[in-house]
Amino acid sequence: MEQVPWWHRIELAPGLITPGLDDSRGKVQYLGIPENLSGKRVLDVGCWDGFFSFEAEKRGAREVIAIDIWESPGFRLARKVLNSKVHFERMSMYEVNSERLGLFEVVFCFGVYYHLKNPLTGLERIASVAKESALIEGEILAEETRTVVEFIEFLYGDDDPTTWWVPSLSALQAMVRASGFPSAEIVSTYQGGHRGVVRGLKTPLTKALAASENIVFALASPRNGETVCDRLTIEGWVIDRSDPVRGIDLIEVYLDGPEGEGEFVGRISPEGEFPGLTSQWGFLAPNSRFTIEIDVSQWAVGQHAIFLSFYSPTHWRQHRLHVIRKHIHS
Ligand SMILES: C[S@@+](CC[C@H](N)C(=O)[O-])C[C@H]1O[C@@H](n2cnc3c(N)ncnc32)[C@H](O)[C@@H]1O
Repeated sequence: MEQVPWWHRIELAPGLITPGLDDSRGKVQYLGIPENLSGKRVLDVGCWDGFFSFEAEKRGAREVIAIDIWESPGFRLARKVLNSKVHFERMSMYEVNSERLGLFEVVFCFGVYYHLKNPLTGLERIASVAKESALIEGEILAEETRTVVEFIEFLYGDDDPTTWWVPSLSALQAMVRASGFPSAEIVSTYQGGHRGVVRGLKTPLTKALAASENIVFALASPRNGETVCDRLTIEGWVIDRSDPVRGIDLIEVYLDGPEGEGEFVGRISPEGEFPGLTSQWGFLAPNSRFTIEIDVSQWAVGQHAIFLSFYSPTHWRQHRLHVIRKHIHS
C-alpha cells in the first residue's frame, strides 16, 4: 500500500485507510450521491483510485463502469482488496458514447470538466449516455455572481497546469444545461465557494441525447418579453445543420419550466419552408417551418417562461423565452 501514490483515502478494511492526498470521505457529503443506487448503472468519469466508484457499488449500484485516461495502480489494488466488481476502461471523457458503454441511470463527473480544454464537448458526451441524472463537481469562481467562465492559459493558482476553464456556479449550471440536460440544479458549494456541484437532470425524451449547436432556429414571433393577451403565436424556422435535408422531427413547448418541470403545452412537427427567411445559418430544410398557436387566456397574469425543445433524431436543443400575459378588460 505504501508504494502506491494514492490520491483517494479508501477504507480497504476496517480502520485501514489508504494515505491519499484527497479527503475523499469528507467530500462525499457535498456531492449529492443518492443513498440508494440499487438497480442503477453508474458511470464514474475520471475515477483515479476509484473511491467514488466503490462508493457507488457500496450503495447498491447494479453495475459500475469507471473510466480515466490512465489506470492508477491504486485503483487496481483497491479493486482487488475490496473484491469489487467495478469495471475499469481506459478512456477519455471525450470518447464516452453509448455504443461502447451503453446507457447509465447516473453519471459521476467529479473533478474533471475544468481539466478539459473543451469542457462542453466532454459534458455533451456525458449527456449522450445519461438516462436520469449526472453529478458534475469541480472548481468554480468563488463569489462570482455573473454567468462567466475564466480561461487559464498557463498556470491556475501559480502551480496547476492542468486547469483550463473555471466557470462561475451559474455558468456551470448553464453549461450542464447547454450540453443536453433540460434542467440543472445546484447541489452544493464548498471549500469556501471554490468548488461546486450541479446535478443535470434528464427526461424520457432527452435521455441519451446530447444538445447540439448544429440545431439553429430563428423566431419571427414572439419577441422576447412581448406582452400577450389571449393568444400567443410562436412562429419560426429551425434546422439541424448536421442533417439539413432532413430538418427537425419534433418541437415541444413547456410552460414555466423545461420538460420534466414545466407544464406541457403541446408538440408539433415542422412543415414547409419559412417564407421570407433566408438560409442564414445553413440550408433551408423541407421541414423547417413551424407555427404554434396557443390559447393563453387561462394563463395567470404576469411573466411566463416558455421552453421550446427542438428534436432531430440524434440531437436536441432547448430555447427559453419570456412573455408577459396581460389581462384585457372587456
Ligand atoms: C482531480 S482528479 C479527480 C478524481 C476523482 N474523480 C475525484 O473526484 O476525486 C481528475 C481525474 O480526471 C482524469 N481526467 C483528466 N482528463 C480526463 C479526460 N479527458 N477523460 C477522463 N478522465 C480525465 C485525471 O486523470 C484524474 O484522474
